[in-house]
Amino acid sequence: MQPSAPHSALLSARNVRKTYHLGKVRVPVLRDASIDIAAGEWVSIVGSSGSGKSTLLHLLGGLDRPDADSGPISFAGDELRAFGPRRENEYRNRDVGFVFQFYHLLPELTVLENAMLPSLVGLGRFRWLLARGELRERAAELLKTCGLGHRLLHRPAELSGGERQRVAIARALINKPRVLLADEPTGNLDEKTGGGILDLLASCHADGLTLVMVTHDASIARRAQRQVRIADGCVALARE
Ligand SMILES: Nc1ncnc2c1ncn2[C@@H]1O[C@H](COP(=O)(O)OP(=O)(O)O)[C@@H](O)[C@H]1O
Ligand SMILES: [Mg+2]
Repeated sequence: MQPSAPHSALLSARNVRKTYHLGKVRVPVLRDASIDIAAGEWVSIVGSSGSGKSTLLHLLGGLDRPDADSGPISFAGDELRAFGPRRENEYRNRDVGFVFQFYHLLPELTVLENAMLPSLVGLGRFRWLLARGELRERAAELLKTCGLGHRLLHRPAELSGGERQRVAIARALINKPRVLLADEPTGNLDEKTGGGILDLLASCHADGLTLVMVTHDASIARRAQRQVRIADGCVALARE
C-alpha cells in the first residue's frame, strides 16, 4: 500500500492520470485524481458532464487502465496494475460489482440467467454442472430481494426500465462483491422509479456493501455519506 493511503481505505486511487487518444489528439481527462474509499462507506462522485466521472469509475473497477505514468489504484492494499490476467478477471468479476446507466443486460437471456451470468464466469463445465442448482437458487433469492420474484423467466424487453436496473443490480451482487460501483444508476429513470432503485442500493449499503455512485443529480448525491467532485482532472471534496 502507498504510505499516503490510510489503512482503512478499501479502494484507493493516488494521483491517477488518464489520457484518451483520438488519432493524434490527446484528450487528458484525469491528471491528478486521488480518492480513498473506506470499507462500508457510501461515496458519491459528482461533476459536470465530460468531467471524467465514468472514466474514474471504470479505472476503479479495473474495466480500463490508467496512463503508464499514473499513480496507483489499490484494492485492499494491493495495486491493480500488479494483478496478472487471472487476478484481474477475478477482481472485475468478484471483488467489485458494476451497475451502468443503461443496464447492459443480454436480451436473449431471461432475468434469472442474466443475474446468474457473473457466477458462471471462470467455472469450468464440470463445476458449473455441479453448482448450477445452487447458483440458480441464489440468483432467484437475490432477485426476490430486488423485488423481481415474479419476473424470473421474463426477458429484459418485457420489463420496465426500473425492473431492468433491478436485474442489473442483482447481477452485480451475485458474487457478493465488497464494492458496488454504480454509474448514474438512476440516470435513465423517472424520479419515483429512481427513488426505488436508490432505496434498494441504500439497503445493500446498510447490509455492509461499500457503494461508490456517480451522479450529476445533487439530491441523489446527498444520500451518500460523502460527496466528492471531479473538476479539471482532479477530485476534490464537494461543497454543498
Ligand atoms: N474511449 C474514449 N475515447 C476518447 N475520449 C473519451 C473516451 N471516453 C471518454 N472520453 C472523453 O473523456 C471525457 C470524460 O468522459 P467521461 O468519463 O465519460 O465523463 P463523465 O462520465 O463525467 O460525463 C469526455 O470528454 C469524453 O468525451
Ligand atoms: Mg459518465
